[in-house]
Amino acid sequence: MGFLAAIGLIVIIYYIVQFFLWTILDCDIELFLASTLGKPISSLKGKVVWITGASSGIGRELAKILSKNGVRLILTARNSRELEATKQECLLLAGGALNSDDILVITLDMLKFAYHQDTFNRVIQHFRGLHILVNNAGRSQRAEWNKIDINVDRELFELDVFSVIHLSRLAVTYFEQNNVKGQLAVTSSTAGLIGAPNSASYTGAKHALHGYYEALRNEKPNINVNIYCPGPTFSNFLQEAFVEIPGQKYNHPVQSDDKRMTAERCAYLYAIALANNTGLCWSGIFPINWIAYIGLYYPNIKRFLLAVIGTRRLQKIRDGRCNNTNDPSRA
Ligand SMILES: NC(=O)c1ccc[n+]([C@@H]2O[C@H](COP(=O)([O-])OP(=O)(O)OC[C@H]3O[C@@H](n4cnc5c(N)ncnc54)[C@H](OP(=O)(O)O)[C@@H]3O)[C@@H](O)[C@H]2O)c1
Repeated sequence: MGFLAAIGLIVIIYYIVQFFLWTILDCDIELFLASTLGKPISSLKGKVVWITGASSGIGRELAKILSKNGVRLILTARNSRELEATKQECLLLAGGALNSDDILVITLDMLKFAYHQDTFNRVIQHFRGLHILVNNAGRSQRAEWNKIDINVDRELFELDVFSVIHLSRLAVTYFEQNNVKGQLAVTSSTAGLIGAPNSASYTGAKHALHGYYEALRNEKPNINVNIYCPGPTFSNFLQEAFVEIPGQKYNHPVQSDDKRMTAERCAYLYAIALANNTGLCWSGIFPINWIAYIGLYYPNIKRFLLAVIGTRRLQKIRDGRCNNTNDPSRA
């Protein structure tokens, strides 16, 4: 075989392997490699990790998997009862490796910016330090593009972007002033990689997070930045999602037969991302890998494929409803 033919063969094999992995994996290839060959979650043992939005869904499951691995935690959200319940679950899972003082519960509405500094001070006072801030609190959206009231855009950005940036700035300042190589994680979404139909403000917000955190990464190499993008995942997020009208919620619970990743699996992969300090990564069952890779690396093919898939089917994939045809709310 000639040299050029050999190169051609290698390229073909490379793409076949890549397409195969995109199809069978439930996360990007780097994250998969980190989960099999990289540092285990237990490498975070003893670290102090603050998770916002820890009262339910992905944040709650992340708290559980980290506590199981001896990570000390700060759990914040608005619902203090659910935060306490999360703490008890974590202590149980830690099996004696953590005591009550190792898990600090603080009720914090992320929209009350004036409380961020006080809460930050309480965390530092309690643990004498912070290693990782996981910015996870957020709400999704279901709304028709042209019908969205501008105040919804504002409300959504206040929570999903500005509150996140405000808290992260306190952390970066703390890391710098104390010469700590700190780590900041942010829960983005597949909607941070590709425009999600019926979620314009949310898509805009998650894309904005990428801008802020990529800029941080390039500006301050001493801070580790992890952007984690879950695909459709079981949680409370659909009930809580913004709609077109200010103050209203979508209020459709996810269905048990939706095609979604479990919050447990999503959180496991998130913890792997934290342990291995992956830059940008994502999770989601088929076809999320295809959407993410093509969306990121092949913009021209993306346009073609999206035209073939069509808005309706993309919306169904996005809503984890490819399995379901009977429920009218799934149309
Ligand atoms: N589930 C998915 O399919 C999916 C996909 C991609 C990305 N995500 C992202 O994953 C993150 C977690 O969402 P989830 O799916 O786990 O949904 P979830 O179960 O609804 O959890 C959202 C969390 O955010 C907290 N939160 C909401 N508003 C808050 C506020 N004003 N102040 C403080 N905390 C607030 C909630 O706690 P309280 O109500 O107690 O305050 C809750 O703990 C979000 O950033 C979301 O955008 C989810």
